[in-house]
Amino acid sequence: MLHQQNLTVNAAGHLAVGGVDAVALAGEYGTPLYVLDEDMVRERMRLYRDVMAQAFPAGSRPYYASKALCCKALCAWAHEEGLGLDAVSAGEIYTALAAGVPAADICFHGNAKTEAELRCAIASGVGLIAADGEEELARIDAVAAALHARPRVLLRVTPGIDPHTFAAVNTGVVDVKFGVPIPTGQALAATRTALGMKHMDLAGFHCHIGSQIFDASPFHLEVDVMLSFLDQVRRELGYTVGVLDLGGGFAVPYTEDEPVPDCEEMLRRTAERLDARCRELDYPAPAVLMEPGRGIVGAAGVTLYTVQNVKSVPGGSTFAAVDGGMGDNPRYALYGARHSAVIADRAGDPADRRVTIAGRCCESGDLVGEDVPLQAPRAGDTLAVLVTGAYNYSMASNYNRVPRPPIVALRGGESRIIVRRETAEDLVRLDV
Ligand code: LLP
Repeated sequence: MLHQQNLTVNAAGHLAVGGVDAVALAGEYGTPLYVLDEDMVRERMRLYRDVMAQAFPAGSRPYYASKALCCKALCAWAHEEGLGLDAVSAGEIYTALAAGVPAADICFHGNAKTEAELRCAIASGVGLIAADGEEELARIDAVAAALHARPRVLLRVTPGIDPHTFAAVNTGVVDVKFGVPIPTGQALAATRTALGMKHMDLAGFHCHIGSQIFDASPFHLEVDVMLSFLDQVRRELGYTVGVLDLGGGFAVPYTEDEPVPDCEEMLRRTAERLDARCRELDYPAPAVLMEPGRGIVGAAGVTLYTVQNVKSVPGGSTFAAVDGGMGDNPRYALYGARHSAVIADRAGDPADRRVTIAGRCCESGDLVGEDVPLQAPRAGDTLAVLVTGAYNYSMASNYNRVPRPPIVALRGGESRIIVRRETAEDLVRLDV
C-alpha cells in the first residue's frame, strides 16, 4: 500500500484513514464516499503557512488553490489556518465568501473572466485580481471606474518554463492560453498598459509553471526568469513590484514508485534562490505568494466504493466494477492519471493481482485505473482509491445522472459530513 502515515491497517485487517476504519465509514455513510483527513489538510496548510512566513520576505503567504477542492468547509479551514484563497470563478468566490473568508484574502484568477465576474469580484472587494492580458486590464479598469473602486492587480505572465524538462524555452511553453509571454516582449508592453490604467494599482506579477513538481529546480528557474523580468521592468518602466506570486504545483505521490517530495525543502530552497537573485540585482525583496492546491488536499483524500461485479476475461483483464468512476474521479479518463488502490476489507493481504477498476458509466473509457496492483476483489468489498483529495470532487459531474458523493471529514478520529450526498431531487432541481 502507498506509504502514507495516515493510512494504516487496523486489527481487523481493514484500511484505516486517520485511525478511522474505512469499511465502517462505507457502512455508515454509504458509497461512493469521499473521505478527507481534515487533520492532515490542516497540518499541510500550517506547514506552507509557517515555512513561507519564516523563509520568505515579510508579507509572504500561501493562497490555497481552491480549484483543487472547493466547498465551504475547505475555504473556512484555509482561512482559520491563516491562508489566503485562490479563486478562479465567481462560484469559487461565492463559496469562499459564504464560508466567511474575507474578500481581502481572495486572489481572483482566470484566463476568461466575464465582465459579470469582474463586477462581482471588484464589488465584493477581493484583495487581488490576476489579470490575464491587455483586454482584461482595460475591462478591469472600466468596471473599477463604474464601481468607484481601485482593485489591486497582478499581471499574469508566462515565463516560458517547462517544469518537467527544467529548460527555459522561448517557444512552445509560451504558446499557452494563460498569461502574457515574457520572451515575446508582450509582458513588458502589458505592464506599461497596466501602469497607465487610472482605476487600479499594479501590485506585482503572477506566474504558474505547472503541476506535479517534485523538486525545487523548476521553481529556481521560475525565480531566475521572474527576477530578470522584474529588473527589466524596473530599468525600462521605473516600476518596482511589491508582490510576486509564483503559483502552485507542489507534487503529491500517487503511486509507490513516485518519490515523496519534501515541500518544506522546496520552499526553503526557492526562498534562498529569491534572496540570492534579489541581492545580485539589488532588488528590494517582494512579498511572495504561492498557490498550493494538490499539495494541501491531494494525499488527504480517499474515495470508497463498493465492488459490484468482478469479471476475469481468460487471457485478458480482471475487472472490478464499482459504484462510481469517471463521474467522481475523471482523472484517469482525462489524463491517464494513476492512483493506488486497496481492498479496504483485506488491506493487510498482499496486493498480488493486477485489476482494472471499472466505473459505472455507459462508456468503456470510464475506468479508474488499469492494471492496478490490488488484493483479489470480491463483490461487496469496499474498494479504496487513494490520494483523491485534489481534482476529484471539484471535477465531478452528473454524467448518466449519477448523484455526486458526499464528503466526510475526519478530525481527531471522528467523522462528519461536510458536503452531503446528492439526491435524485437534486438531479432534477434545475429542470424546467
Ligand atoms: N495556481 C494556478 C494559477 C493554477 O492554474 C493551479 C492549477 C494552481 C495554482 C494549483 O496547482 P496545484 O498546486 O494543485 O498543482 N486537474 C488537473 C490539475 C490542473 C491544475 C490546474 N491549475 C489534475 O487533476 O491533475
